Amino acid sequence: MSRLINRQWRVARRPVGLAKQSDFEWREELVPAPGPGQMLVRNEYLSVDPISRAWMWQDDTALPALPLGSVMRGITVGRVAQSRNSAFVEGSRVLGLLGWQDYALSNGESDVLMRLSPDEHDVPPTMQLGLLGHVGITAYFGLLEIGQPKAGEMLVVSSAAGAVGSLVGQIGKLCGCRVVGIAGSTDKCRWLREELGYDAAINYKAEPVFKRLKQHCPHGIDVYFDNVGGAMLEDALNLLNPHARIVACGMLSVYNDVGGLLTLPPGPNNLLHLTLRRARMQGFVGFDFWPRAAEALTRLVRWHRDGKLRYRVDVIEGLRQAPHVLNRLFDGTSWGKLVIRIS
Ligand SMILES: NC(=O)c1ccc[n+]([C@@H]2O[C@H](COP(=O)([O-])OP(=O)(O)OC[C@H]3O[C@@H](n4cnc5c(N)ncnc54)[C@H](OP(=O)(O)O)[C@@H]3O)[C@@H](O)[C@H]2O)c1
Repeated sequence: MSRLINRQWRVARRPVGLAKQSDFEWREELVPAPGPGQMLVRNEYLSVDPISRAWMWQDDTALPALPLGSVMRGITVGRVAQSRNSAFVEGSRVLGLLGWQDYALSNGESDVLMRLSPDEHDVPPTMQLGLLGHVGITAYFGLLEIGQPKAGEMLVVSSAAGAVGSLVGQIGKLCGCRVVGIAGSTDKCRWLREELGYDAAINYKAEPVFKRLKQHCPHGIDVYFDNVGGAMLEDALNLLNPHARIVACGMLSVYNDVGGLLTLPPGPNNLLHLTLRRARMQGFVGFDFWPRAAEALTRLVRWHRDGKLRYRVDVIEGLRQAPHVLNRLFDGTSWGKLVIRIS
């Protein structure tokens, strides 16, 4: 094993704007041998997530800031190649924060999110990075626990054709909501309406969002699932119903604009609506729900097998592509879940 090479992307600089390839450093090192209690995982697939860009900030996010020079953080599915940890047998599959690299050493605790049971080995690994992983858990608990949608209510979802958003709208329909999605192209909007069952979709790059929201939500918004922040959040705030809930899932509109949390652009100027409407806006972190993952995954699997929950995955070949692929999340060319096949 020691003669094998571990290819890695490390963080070289704090990016300004979209991350550039020169903000990363490509390294090739010998694969390390696991020490007592450790295992060596061979990463197979890497999840590309918008928060990766914020992980390059100098500030902590929900996870500590990455020091310059460290391996870029990323969620992967891989197989245990060597194990000196009795809890993990060689050949088993794990899901973890094991980075933009071919191989990772792990103690099987802090950086492993889930050990996948043998019967889950039939599930495509790309699905374990999406529908049946952190994305599914975020959509499920974000909407049901934080958003608390009720039948007949109006749900609006931003980045609705994205990994999380595409699930949120469909789960909303399963709850009996009327659902409006906001996405960045005509094709994505058609997909939301015709294949995912959204009641309406707004192309924010071609249509006036506030005007269309008023048309599609004539009785106001009960739940806004916010993946974007910025102007769309302001538009949704203006249409909130009494006791509405805003699920603050993420802010795609700011991850590239700023160097960190202290330089964020000015926020919505109309938060007063929260007071006037007795509304609630609540953030959450999907990882916090990991101990309850089985609860979500059981239902997500059933809905998917019954054809009630559709899911789209884009698989890109090669770890080398990772810095470039990260930017596809921000230029609108990603659709559904973006994953890189490492090996
Ligand atoms: N709280 C948590 O635990 C948690 C966990 C996972 C994800 N998240 C957050 O949830 C959100 C969605 O994550 P995801 O993984 O599903 O990513 P995603 O929605 O698939 O992100 C990529 C898509 O976002 C859209 N987008 C990019 N920049 C935008 C902008 N400035 N304004 C509007 N749309 C923009 C683009 O689609 P268009 O063509 O529509 O522009 C792009 O295809 C992110 O904010 C993420 O950080 C939070």
